[in-house]
Amino acid sequence: MAVSFKQRDIISIRHFNKEELLYILDLAKRMEQVDHTNILKGKVLASLFFEPSTRTRLSFESAMKRLGGVVIGFAESGVSSVSKGESLSDSVKIIEGYCDIIVLRHYLEGSAQLAADVVDVPVINAGDGSNQHPTQTFLDLYTIQKTKGTLEGLTVGFLGDLKYGRTVHSLAYALSYFGAEMFFISPPSLRMPRDCMDELKDRKVRCHENESLLGISKKLDVIYCTRIQKERFADPVEFEKVRGVYRLSKSMLEEIGIKDDLKILHPLPRVDEMDGSLDKTDFAVYFHQARNGIPVRKALLAAVLGAVE
Ligand code: CP
Repeated sequence: MAVSFKQRDIISIRHFNKEELLYILDLAKRMEQVDHTNILKGKVLASLFFEPSTRTRLSFESAMKRLGGVVIGFAESGVSSVSKGESLSDSVKIIEGYCDIIVLRHYLEGSAQLAADVVDVPVINAGDGSNQHPTQTFLDLYTIQKTKGTLEGLTVGFLGDLKYGRTVHSLAYALSYFGAEMFFISPPSLRMPRDCMDELKDRKVRCHENESLLGISKKLDVIYCTRIQKERFADPVEFEKVRGVYRLSKSMLEEIGIKDDLKILHPLPRVDEMDGSLDKTDFAVYFHQARNGIPVRKALLAAVLGAVE
């Protein structure tokens, strides 16, 4: 059956098969090659961000406007009627009457699915707590494909906050379709959730857990570095124990040894886990990765709103 994203919710990367992932990557490439101005003319995106965001919110809004659509919404919950006690469910039921599609970021895991269950317009999950961030995964895959030339058979190291890192959970699942070998490098308190590891093992992924890059770094085609997310810790003492535990720099990587064609991705924002000395090297693709948010989110909006084949 032909791939179709028309009127579909984008809640979890688990809802998509390999063919569907590749369809969006191919469409994103077309978005870069061909001018699609005005294909979403007359369409309205409601951009609802209950948590801070720079890249996801602005790239969705830019993508929508560049395709001829318009954007309504808010960038903080304090300006919506949720601050008066209105439920998320009631809010989205009202907002669906004003738009054609909803993009939602919320601090509660499962919030995007909850919204999708009560509205008829499509809902795109822009990050729900520490659960999933599927559109980031599409742009991560797109970046890996562009910079490595393939998605197949790569050795990928995930580094940092793997417990709360929703981008890691989504990307690891997606890469399981492409025969990746995965190294999960974190302090013991920030290891991958057990259910994610079990799922990967069920999918026959070669997975390893480590506390350091030492002894692994020379095997890696990709390092996916993440920030230790202070805001997700219930206890500040626990955060202090792992603050600054990893600091990638050009000299440090040269010292431990890496492949010449290693690529370093990071969903950003970064704090201190990745030194500026890397920025101008060929390893660093994270700024390019953030820019890929535009073609990938254009592709997702156009596909879900039925504006492309
Ligand atoms: N990568 C990402 O989700 O960034 P923002 O939090 O700035 O949207």
